[in-house]
Amino acid sequence: MKLTDAQKQRIEDLLQQMTLEEKIGQMNQESPSIVGGFDVPFEELIEMMTDGRITKEEFGNIMSNAKQDFHEDEIRKGLVGSLMVQDPVKVNELQKIAMEESRLGIPIIFGLDVIHGFRSVYPIAIAEAGSFDTDLMERTAAMAAKESRSAGVAWHFAPMVDVARDARWGRVSEGPGEDPYLGSQFARAKIRGLQNDQSSTENYVAACLKHYVGYGACESGRDYNTVSMAMHVFYNNYLKPFEAAVDEGAATVMAAFNDLNGTPCTVNRFLLRDILKDSCGFPGFVVSDANAIRECEVHGICADDMDAAIQAANAGMDMDMGTEIYLKNLKEAVADGKVSMEVIDEAVRRILSVKMWLGLFDHPYVTEEAMKRYETLPEEHTSLAREAAEKSIVLLKNEGNILPIDRNAKVSLVGNLADNKEEIIGAWAMSWQEKDCVTILEGMKAEFPNVQYFPCGGPEGDLNMDQIIKAGDYGDVIVAVLGELVSMSGEASSRADITIPGRQRELLEMLLTTGKPVVLVLMNGRPLALDWEAQYVPAIVEAWHLGIQMGPAVAHVLSGAVNPEGRLSSSFPAFTGQCPVYYNHPNTGRPGSKSKFTSRYLDAPLGALYPFGYGLSYTTFAYSDLKVENKEAVIEACVTVTNTGDRAGKETVQFYMQDVTASLVRPVKELKGFEKVSLEPGESKTVCFWLEKKDMGFWNNEHVYCLEDGKFRFYAGGSSGDCLMAEAAIRF
Ligand code: NOJ
Repeated sequence: MKLTDAQKQRIEDLLQQMTLEEKIGQMNQESPSIVGGFDVPFEELIEMMTDGRITKEEFGNIMSNAKQDFHEDEIRKGLVGSLMVQDPVKVNELQKIAMEESRLGIPIIFGLDVIHGFRSVYPIAIAEAGSFDTDLMERTAAMAAKESRSAGVAWHFAPMVDVARDARWGRVSEGPGEDPYLGSQFARAKIRGLQNDQSSTENYVAACLKHYVGYGACESGRDYNTVSMAMHVFYNNYLKPFEAAVDEGAATVMAAFNDLNGTPCTVNRFLLRDILKDSCGFPGFVVSDANAIRECEVHGICADDMDAAIQAANAGMDMDMGTEIYLKNLKEAVADGKVSMEVIDEAVRRILSVKMWLGLFDHPYVTEEAMKRYETLPEEHTSLAREAAEKSIVLLKNEGNILPIDRNAKVSLVGNLADNKEEIIGAWAMSWQEKDCVTILEGMKAEFPNVQYFPCGGPEGDLNMDQIIKAGDYGDVIVAVLGELVSMSGEASSRADITIPGRQRELLEMLLTTGKPVVLVLMNGRPLALDWEAQYVPAIVEAWHLGIQMGPAVAHVLSGAVNPEGRLSSSFPAFTGQCPVYYNHPNTGRPGSKSKFTSRYLDAPLGALYPFGYGLSYTTFAYSDLKVENKEAVIEACVTVTNTGDRAGKETVQFYMQDVTASLVRPVKELKGFEKVSLEPGESKTVCFWLEKKDMGFWNNEHVYCLEDGKFRFYAGGSSGDCLMAEAAIRF
């Protein structure tokens, strides 16, 4: 986030001219407030929809009849630094008030949750991370930046880079999975994609790393729950993607809702000041999560709004999302000497720097041309969304090579999710349009001339015997599209049972009794517990929520036009009770085995059903000759990969390390590198990794980085669960 000297001077000049109220105004973010139009408070209305007293449609109707307050008066007085709006006409209207009617004409920064695409929705993050394709991750982010900027949204509340190991947590869908290394690569790619093309102010946005930090470790996977962890676990895992993204230049950070070891992140001086701003040298600003400053009162940490404002500001929280607590209390807090002018100035300087860097002072408005730019989605956006969707699909099982399906085969397509535009989009997509979405049914019709659809079953749907019998009679093969509704993952969507919901397993049983081969295509926002399906269903395709091009992507993989290459960015348990299950767990003194007194369950397999990094292809790959050389500053590890099948395919070669003896218990494996290679049938390639020795250490509980001589193991393979291993003694 580089500023010229002239830009820095402009910020200092503004700071000189601003009143305290105007400074605090910059630290205030508003959302349009809903006013009037219904008889019950807004919160209750949401509850009514959640518990089913009113339907989603009824809620939508009530909302569209309600009036919105866009805070025009406050903007005029210079009291709004940021707003959440996505309509470019409204953006221009409000920006005009800020630029022309407020005393100092400071532009508003408009922000939004653009988590996996704006208009062109691409796969949810847990899926896209499984592509292991950082170039793709960067390109999709850049596309989202351009699309949103054309609507006036210059700030994305993304990427979400919470390491997440408990699949019960609904928000696993929003982030890159369980591994800190893959998470860091994902975080870096997203920052580059969102921020780096500064050739025009229309091409880039400010990223907002979230949720800082530890949110993914919420106890028992229940959203917003408390987080306790040893500090070495924090430094070596949960903090890693944030450090990487700050190093890559992330402009802003959002603090997490949860407490970490007893202090809510929102008022956590150690996290916000000591680690983020001082140790990582983060130059941008920190925003709270929605309502989170006030929630510190509910946590029992702040006595009242004033106390919450004081604690948050002093801890280094630069902007308040949605409570007006800063607006209403900070002036008095400064007058009373509870918050210093330096704290206020620091926050405002950071906020103005991001606005300046975005070019908002000189280009505050959306042009007419930009507004119209994406009226029809350009082909390159659609094809990128399709590429991302295809690369994110993971083939979990393919017994007897049922897949791919011959394009002329008679295919019975079953499952209500196959014919639903809303359900392919995934949690947290706000700017998609129905006309851009291609369902699985539509995709299948284009790929398989003899497909027939038998609507029946779904997460909430009923079984329909008539349709099931007809599906069995018609198809040479049955494709069952089952899984979760979009609303079952994302925020406030934790599940205590992560098997396929509703009566869908019964449906599968019935389909299997028809005697026809069954392919299960899963749509879901989290790892599912698939013990039963893995035993009985011959072919399973993990298709997540893939976005607007889900239909063609799934059809292309089923027909073999695309050879699947996606991998799991999160381990899948066999049973919910195994959660959290993750490949890079610390070793115990009694690693699980067949013997009784070891770390295991009596009624579950030892590890994950499908581990991190796993994913099949329509061809097969073999690994040989892992050679590890101990060079001066690096470890060089080379392995030969051969395509042993009869089709071309892409393999994700993964390189792991284990520190066998150390002063702290270390993970059984840690990902240290990956590379995707394309191989023709029979072709072999040697893939080499160079691990810098300085990256082989770990942080201890005192935040001291330890590089300790001793025995190390190095692993290379196509999955965390299946690798070749070599050992070496290393001195640093
Ligand atoms: C709450 C969510 O936790 C966060 O991810 C999101 O960015 C904000 N609300 C704003 O919508």
